[in-house]
Amino acid sequence: MANTEKRGGFGGKMAAILAAAGSAIGLGNIWRFPYITSENGGGAFILIYLGCILFLGLPLLIAEFAVGHNTKKNPIDAFATIKRGWGWLGAMGIISVTLIMGYYFVIAGWTLNYTIASATNAIGGDFGGFFQTFTTGTWMPLLFTYIFILANHFIITGGVQGGIEKASKIMMPLLFAILVALAIYSLWMPEGREALTNVFTPDFSMVTGKSFLAAMGQAFFTLSVGMGAMLIYGSYFKDGTKIAGTAISVVSLDTIVALMAAVIIFSAGVENESGPQLAFVAMPKVFSTMPMGGVWSTLFFLLLGLAALSSTISMHEAVTSYFVEKRGMSRRKGAWVVTIVAIVLASAASLSLGDWSGYTLAGMNFFSLLDNFTSIVMLPLLGILTAIFVGWIWKKEDMRKELTAEGGVDKATYPVIRFLLRYVCPLLVSVVFVFGIIDFIKNL
Ligand code: TRP
Repeated sequence: MANTEKRGGFGGKMAAILAAAGSAIGLGNIWRFPYITSENGGGAFILIYLGCILFLGLPLLIAEFAVGHNTKKNPIDAFATIKRGWGWLGAMGIISVTLIMGYYFVIAGWTLNYTIASATNAIGGDFGGFFQTFTTGTWMPLLFTYIFILANHFIITGGVQGGIEKASKIMMPLLFAILVALAIYSLWMPEGREALTNVFTPDFSMVTGKSFLAAMGQAFFTLSVGMGAMLIYGSYFKDGTKIAGTAISVVSLDTIVALMAAVIIFSAGVENESGPQLAFVAMPKVFSTMPMGGVWSTLFFLLLGLAALSSTISMHEAVTSYFVEKRGMSRRKGAWVVTIVAIVLASAASLSLGDWSGYTLAGMNFFSLLDNFTSIVMLPLLGILTAIFVGWIWKKEDMRKELTAEGGVDKATYPVIRFLLRYVCPLLVSVVFVFGIIDFIKNL
């Protein structure tokens, strides 16, 4: 029987940290964080962001790891085991992460094309034109997206240890090495240092109510919380892996990477470019004027691609675990189902930028719908519900045991985390959620 296959797990603490950091560190850090920062007042925004990471993101990450580690089950069964009738919360996470895959794989595919085009010097001189032609095309973006999805499929079918752990142990060190090389290179140039000071200097006049929304959304997105991905990784932690320590390592690595990515991008002097085009249009343009620009450009997109790959495998795994553990499929079969769903959604998302751009709902194409719905509605909602579940629904004594004994949270910090989960997260996130929805409706 397929569903009696032994449940996988990570070999040790290092594997747990690298895999979870891999999930956290992604396009959110390198592609999204820099442009959101530049749109919201630079250094001032970063301060708000760090507050969100520390007081909302970290407790939620600990909570999610705890639910997974405590039950050693897939997201649906994990919630249902702790409290009967709560499986739907896991299901909502699985649905949301599936929708994220729909557009995330498309951008991931772009990084692959850009890596190859940079290495072969094929971008040419018209950077905006290249981006436009490529992303709105039919077959090219689809092709690269499919290659990326299949790479995921291959890693997932390799199993937790043979696939995810092994891939993380190769990808993450490589990612850090490239990041450090790029950061040193960008700080080498005097213009770089100057541009950098300008951007990191707090400009509080650019901070609005919306900046708080953006900071919180970014904090949740970058830590992959609320979607079952961190939960499933927590369920694979080996006994003796401390939850709190792992969460702190993951949050620290994720924050360092985001800040370094901002350093690299801002020091290139492109902070005035905003939006998604920053990484794909402005960066290759800057690299093209530098000595050995092709090499640096290749490294930059390789970095983006590695970050995307280590994140997408956690999304894929969260959904695959459902088909394996709830539907009794073999790992191979379950992974195929997820891969096919991802191909269908990502195809529609990719085509919605070009051939199918005429089909819109509330003025948004399918790609933007997936992005906005998951980040404005589902991310905060799942954050609130996860905090409520762990803070209010989980039996107090059981939760305390999981966090303190197994989790490694010390006696003095435990009440702080519990307080944040019971009151601060649900209340603050609700306020931001309501304003986010109102703003969203106003913009329709
Ligand atoms: N954290 C990822 C990034 O920064 C994106 C992400 C959001 C994610 N939600 C997720 C990844 C759920 C895995 C699972 O790019």
